[in-house]
Amino acid sequence: MRAVLSKTPGGPETLVVEDVLDPTPKAGEVIIEVKAVGINYPDTLIIEDKYQFRPERPFSPGAEVAGVVEAVGEGVKGVRKGDRVIAVPGWGGLVERLAVRAETVIPIPDVMSFEEAAALIMTHGTSYYALKDRAQLKAGETLLVLGAAGGVGAAAVELGKAMGAKVVAAASTNDKVEFALELGADNGLIYPSGPMDKAAQKELSGEFKLATGRDGADVVYDAVGGDYADPALRAMDWNGRYLVVGFPAGIPSLPLNLTLLKSVSVIGVFWGAAVMRDPKAHAANMAELMQMYADGKIRPRVSKTFPLEKAGEAIKALGDRQALGKIVVTVES
Ligand SMILES: NC(=O)c1ccc[n+]([C@@H]2O[C@H](COP(=O)([O-])OP(=O)(O)OC[C@H]3O[C@@H](n4cnc5c(N)ncnc54)[C@H](OP(=O)(O)O)[C@@H]3O)[C@@H](O)[C@H]2O)c1
Repeated sequence: MRAVLSKTPGGPETLVVEDVLDPTPKAGEVIIEVKAVGINYPDTLIIEDKYQFRPERPFSPGAEVAGVVEAVGEGVKGVRKGDRVIAVPGWGGLVERLAVRAETVIPIPDVMSFEEAAALIMTHGTSYYALKDRAQLKAGETLLVLGAAGGVGAAAVELGKAMGAKVVAAASTNDKVEFALELGADNGLIYPSGPMDKAAQKELSGEFKLATGRDGADVVYDAVGGDYADPALRAMDWNGRYLVVGFPAGIPSLPLNLTLLKSVSVIGVFWGAAVMRDPKAHAANMAELMQMYADGKIRPRVSKTFPLEKAGEAIKALGDRQALGKIVVTVES
């Protein structure tokens, strides 16, 4: 089978497509014939050895896949050959066939395409866990989303609306803000795309306050970091919750005096670890997400697809800040 492989640490240009042996199912495993692979920011990090996990090389990136069960190993119950399923292996997904533990696969509803299914779990799973379990976002509260047109950001916009919040979307271009408004955001603003000095940060904080309303944001969803964090923290309301999700713009330092003055909680979000620590809560969240999809409240937006041979270009486009919603790699075998 064909596999996209990282053989040396580096950017997407270092990835190669090679023929490797097909996997065979061990006891308790299923083999998925992969149809689509969701691309996420961690794919840009893992191939450069900059992610929380460092798999042994050669390895394939690709954290989440959708496909059809092609074979089942000994002792597998509840999953059958021919089932349409999602799996979130973390890496290893940019291949034609993938072995995963049977108990980890999630069935795909009949009405959901493989592309949508491959684009749902990492982003909506992360943002639902962040907003529901970590921030305990309530209906009527104001949610400010930074990077609101990216993968997890767009999911946070949709989920924030589904949970009854007033959502303010912030992003670096007009097209991105428009996209977030189409997803349901109530209000939007464009922020500078490059580094900011103190004066520019102060100005941005004022814009955040104007856009969120007189009292500021109850919850900030920050999957961007860098110079955007300080202005967002300054635009928070009393008892606000600041969600630390990711740092494509750099790891910021926050002035802790601000958290005291506004009684703000700074809350770390590590969805992958939470899934491993509490699989039951994860399964319950997945069921709720599937119900929201069935009710038409959420829908992963796939703005661009690439074939498997061009998976490196897909990862580069995402790393270059070009993604609106999700980028997906499709696999023809
Ligand atoms: N904590 C968790 O459990 C968890 C789970 C999944 C992902 N994440 C993290 O969440 C972040 C977003 O992931 P994603 O898959 O949603 O990525 P994505 O689709 O690429 O979105 C990232 C957004 O960050 C903004 N950005 C600002 N400065 C950037 C820069 N220098 N380079 C690239 N983007 C920049 C971009 O929006 P603008 O152009 O509008 O600024 C972009 O849309 C990543 O750091 C990822 O590791 C965390």
